Amino acid sequence: MIFTQRKMKQFVFTIVCVILVLGFYKSWARTDNEHSLFSHQHLTKSTDNDMESSLNKAKNENPPGYIEINDLQEANNRIRELEDKLQRIEVKIENRVPKNFPTVKFLNYKNRKRILVTGGAGFVGSHLVDRLMLAGHEVTVVDNFFTGRKRNVEHWIGHENFELVHHDIVRPLYLEVDEIYHLASPASPPHYMLNPVKTIKTNTLGTINVLGLAKRVGARVLIASTSEVYGDPNEHPQTETYWGHVNPIGPRACYDEGKRVAETLSYAYMRQEGVSVRVARIFNTFGPRMHMNDGRVVSNFILQALQNDSITIYGDGHQTRSFQYVSDLVDGLIVLMSSNYTLPINIGNPVEHTIEQFALMIKDLVGGTSKVVELAAVEDDPQRRRPDISRAKKYLDWEPKVPLAEGLKRTISYFAKELQRTKHSQRDSFEMEQLPLFKNDHDIIENL
Ligand SMILES: NC(=O)c1ccc[n+]([C@@H]2O[C@H](COP(=O)([O-])OP(=O)(O)OC[C@H]3O[C@@H](n4cnc5c(N)ncnc54)[C@H](O)[C@@H]3O)[C@@H](O)[C@H]2O)c1
Repeated sequence: MIFTQRKMKQFVFTIVCVILVLGFYKSWARTDNEHSLFSHQHLTKSTDNDMESSLNKAKNENPPGYIEINDLQEANNRIRELEDKLQRIEVKIENRVPKNFPTVKFLNYKNRKRILVTGGAGFVGSHLVDRLMLAGHEVTVVDNFFTGRKRNVEHWIGHENFELVHHDIVRPLYLEVDEIYHLASPASPPHYMLNPVKTIKTNTLGTINVLGLAKRVGARVLIASTSEVYGDPNEHPQTETYWGHVNPIGPRACYDEGKRVAETLSYAYMRQEGVSVRVARIFNTFGPRMHMNDGRVVSNFILQALQNDSITIYGDGHQTRSFQYVSDLVDGLIVLMSSNYTLPINIGNPVEHTIEQFALMIKDLVGGTSKVVELAAVEDDPQRRRPDISRAKKYLDWEPKVPLAEGLKRTISYFAKELQRTKHSQRDSFEMEQLPLFKNDHDIIENL
């Protein structure tokens, strides 16, 4: 019995021990699991922290130009944005520069001339450029864009026969050319009076540079002179033999005397250096591409009438002018250049009108409600101006063809379009898909 009790005690003790051992093992195993999980998490966290700190360390330690993965992505996005932007600009440029140029005549090497037009981005110059380009010549325009605009010749930019050079004629230039039309000079009173010294330089130094170039390369030069060399004339109509009546110290002298010196220089180069010169004394000319703010009678009156403003006349309106349409002038310049006539020659329209008549004619053609009003007369404003064109008729077989009303209609329609296109965006969306066949500069104006 005693044995049994002892054995029982031993057995119970063993069971308790086993239970304790098992319980202890179980709790140890769970703790170990949790511990290992915790250690794993701890390890991961510490690895991230380590990486971050090592990247930061690397960033600080790396030389400039080091890019992180995030930066690379940002850079890629930026590159994509810039590529899109570039594509849009390319499309814009393609729209602005016509792919199809006006069709030009083909001239063989013998007949094709290399022609320089100074002031070719201006009003008259750009019409001359159109005509010379359509005829198949190689044309270089030199212009400082003082009063000219690239837009006047933009339809030729990129054409193999055309070149546009941004250059001030007061500085010498070196080109290989056969003919030079020297038109570079501001032409309207507000423009040439803006910087009188520069106007004198352009017409004197500029003309010397052009004549020097002509001498070097053996080119023929046509000088765009002006009826202003006659000043406020005592002789009417003005013949080329009239020496003029110019106030040498008046506000217009920078232009009038500048042009007179340009003529003097031309004949000095002809006599002394054997340069072949032509001198066109151009009378008032009008047409599309005239400056809208040049203060000249035609542009002033048309703009005022189109905007229903008062049409302003300076003085009593009885002073006379004779206006030629620009295509007639271009005909005259081209025929003079190809002629053998070397003395000055008047190129103008002899049909004379009073300023008041012009104002009323323009008012009628435009319609609208403008009134004609008189303002104080302008200093040194010539009272009468009409060319005698007997020389041009005799030696060039030239006379103007375009009637005043016809020329005015074309000019009014151009100005009306210009007023509509005041917003830059309208010009940007301007597309030139299929260009028609242009016979002359007028066709170009109508269609572009
Ligand atoms: N339009 C007329 O009624 C008229 C009358 C008589 C004479 N002209 C003469 O015809 C020529 C052209 O006149 P327009 O009416 O076309 O004038 P415009 O002002 O439209 O053109 C003159 C051009 O010469 C450029 N120019 C001016 N100074 C220059 C310089 N230093 N270097 C390079 N380029 C320069 C201008 O930027 C412009 O493109 C001028 O010489 C002018 O004296 C014109």
